[in-house]
Amino acid sequence: MKRSKRDDKLITSERIKAKGKLASEIAHELNTPIGAILMYSHLLLEDMPEGDPRRENIIKINKLANRCKMIVKGLLDFSSRGEPLSEKVQINQSIRNVVAFLEDHVLFKEVSIRMYLDPALPSIQGNENKLEQVFVNLIVNAAQSMEGKGTLTLSTEFLRDRNQVRITCADTGCGIDPNHMETIFEPFFTTKEDERGTGLGLSICHGIIEHHGGTIMVDSAKGEGSTFTILLPVVEEDRA
Ligand SMILES: Nc1ncnc2c1ncn2[C@@H]1O[C@H](COP(=O)(O)OP(=O)(O)OP(=O)(O)O)[C@@H](O)[C@H]1O
Ligand SMILES: [Mg+2]
Repeated sequence: MKRSKRDDKLITSERIKAKGKLASEIAHELNTPIGAILMYSHLLLEDMPEGDPRRENIIKINKLANRCKMIVKGLLDFSSRGEPLSEKVQINQSIRNVVAFLEDHVLFKEVSIRMYLDPALPSIQGNENKLEQVFVNLIVNAAQSMEGKGTLTLSTEFLRDRNQVRITCADTGCGIDPNHMETIFEPFFTTKEDERGTGLGLSICHGIIEHHGGTIMVDSAKGEGSTFTILLPVVEEDRA
């Protein structure tokens, strides 16, 4: 039986949901014991005199437990998608907030950031924190793909005829392997080595955008950069 591209997209979406559900259940189970490991290792350190050779191992335990905590936090964020969409979000302002927050980071030292924000962009109904989290994830990915050097272009546009807001985040980074174009949105898919990535960023973005009734897509050519596009619906009363 021949499967269409649309079928593939639906299957991917279902797979992301199923994996996400399992992941968030595991995260809930792990949250408490990891907190306890952190606390007890901390207490041990406090009791041990400076210069004790055993401190080194306890410091390692503490560091690794902290890393586990970070992963679990990512998983819990992934599962907190049911949050209310009760705010009128000014997307342009959210993007400016996120850029102001990130641009001093060393990752952006030699990145030139361009913004083309549509002044006629209507607000959308949603959750501002969650949408800012999406922009942070996309912008950090973009900076990482450029290894700190290149151009990041952020733009917004009101698509009047479709009653949608379009947001794009384009980089001049390493680009994405054509075989990875769908899998990048799955939880735990990462090409980043060591401890640089958990592979949760884009799956969180995917979940948040779907929860807002929108879509997120990617276009990329290996070695030539990537463009992520988000479409979000505008509620009728905000059009005026
Ligand atoms: N702008 C981009 N340019 C090139 N590759 C990208 C870009 N954004 C995402 N990717 C690819 O998609 C993968 C998954 O991205 P995702 O944000 O989900 O996880 P991560 O960045 O690896 O880890 P995390 O976000 O959890 O720290 C990345 O490892 C990378 O291979
Ligand atoms: Mg990421």
